[in-house]
Amino acid sequence: MKIIRTANYEDMSQKAAQLMIDKIRQQPDMTLGLATGSTPKGVYAELIKDHNKNGTSYKKITTINLDEYIGLTPSDHNSYRHFMNSELFDHLDILAENTHLPNGAAEDMFKECERYEQLIKDLVDIDLQLLGIGRNGHIGFNEPGTSFKSRTHVVDLAESTRKANARFFNFIEDVPAQAITMGIASILDSREIILLASGSAKAEAIKQLIYGETNEKFPASALKLHPNVTIIADEEALSLVNKEH
Ligand code: PGA
Repeated sequence: MKIIRTANYEDMSQKAAQLMIDKIRQQPDMTLGLATGSTPKGVYAELIKDHNKNGTSYKKITTINLDEYIGLTPSDHNSYRHFMNSELFDHLDILAENTHLPNGAAEDMFKECERYEQLIKDLVDIDLQLLGIGRNGHIGFNEPGTSFKSRTHVVDLAESTRKANARFFNFIEDVPAQAITMGIASILDSREIILLASGSAKAEAIKQLIYGETNEKFPASALKLHPNVTIIADEEALSLVNKEH
């Protein structure tokens, strides 16, 4: 795993966005795997800035997101579909039909998992997958204990994840108990992965990722099995990692 150490959140966002923009310009019809949460917001703001200033086009880009809450409709302002539309898609020239998220309001979740996994296959894999990391090492909503062989599936969210995400809801009881997420094997099929981390709350998770064992108790450790992963993290997130890394 390659590590890019950045000064702060803004610097992390700019460096990650620039890497993505360079790739999009080289391959304007690429498939991007995208993530939600506080961490990638700055990257999305940089992509929008660049689109407005330099005209980088997303007309031929396809996107596919990691996960979605179960029970929230796309128009619910806490759904990840709503997040992606308002934080990114609505500000680019991307075609709405080329942006994909799991449908958290699907009637049959088993079929929805199959549909999503087939979609990933039909796109002939993800060229570049952007990831955040949970404090417990989750990637997507793959919580500790998830099989490294997992494909798109329904998960019960860890209590710590619901608490961490409660800041977006009025009450913790409003945070859905389940989500649909790409599996770890689905994520590892991506050609290239960028993992973002910012702030001291992520320092333990990043330390564990870099120095810890590869096992299912810590989902992000699966990334060590992938040949092309770059961690872009700020000083605070890397505060427990030696500088020579
Ligand atoms: P965050 O979430 O970016 O809001 O910290 C990351 C994650 O839980 O994967």
